[in-house]
Amino acid sequence: MNLRRIRQLVPAYEVTEGAGVTVHRSIGTPALRNLDPFLMLDHFGSDNPDEYIAGFPEHPHRGFITFTYMLDGHMEHRDSMGNRGDLKAGGIQWMKAASGVIHSEMPQQTNGLMRGFQLWINLPARDKMSAPAYQEFSAAAIPEVRLDGARVRVLAGELGDTRGVIEDPATDVRYLDVSLQAGARFSVPLSDTHNAFVYVFEGGARLADEVLATHNLAVLGPGDTMDIEAGSSGARFILVAGRPIGEPVVQYGPFVMNTRDEIKQAFADYEAGQLVQARATMTGH
Ligand code: CO
Repeated sequence: MNLRRIRQLVPAYEVTEGAGVTVHRSIGTPALRNLDPFLMLDHFGSDNPDEYIAGFPEHPHRGFITFTYMLDGHMEHRDSMGNRGDLKAGGIQWMKAASGVIHSEMPQQTNGLMRGFQLWINLPARDKMSAPAYQEFSAAAIPEVRLDGARVRVLAGELGDTRGVIEDPATDVRYLDVSLQAGARFSVPLSDTHNAFVYVFEGGARLADEVLATHNLAVLGPGDTMDIEAGSSGARFILVAGRPIGEPVVQYGPFVMNTRDEIKQAFADYEAGQLVQARATMTGH
């Protein structure tokens, strides 16, 4: 057993996104531009409607996947192809934007807590211009594993014999939401070919003798096992791993391609009203 240590500790910082929504960003910052195949991690969380009510009005994406996990609240997703999705507490949406999607993500509440994550996962060159697709699941569809002092929601990939609901063939993404009671320990095998990170969003934890506070992201170093222990007030974190793509990343706002020419093409297509080239399919329940 080779325990993964912390290669880099990244405190998230507040940025304003969409039409004025406050988020904590960790991946996709000057300190951590990306972590192949992950391009961005935003943690939104507020009980002040002024900080989320404006939502994310219509905007484009091309070349990657957005993975949204709602912890609390209710957002409605609509896209330019007539797809509509409801994201409620505990639910997830995997949207392969690929060749192009124009969508909006708007709050369906005027008060109360709105909390969750949006993770951007890159696509390999061969999939960047493929047809868009959605996988969307409500909280009830997501398997949960109970261990000693731990509750784990398996969103993607596996934990023991339990397999998550999202299929992500290109980068084999694994995505776990782990809640630990005070002092509880969680040990999990992690493929040593995959990049991985932990992001703490409640309480605090200790990983390989280093302290992880709320809003801290830990990039894990090489190894085949992660071992983490909750602090005195417990901990809740996401553990995400994926197979690196190893290709050049050229990003400009909502477009992530391999070359500058492909980015120029994305802008040209968007301006000509031709960003959306294929209708997305939707699966899930
Ligand atoms: Co979006």
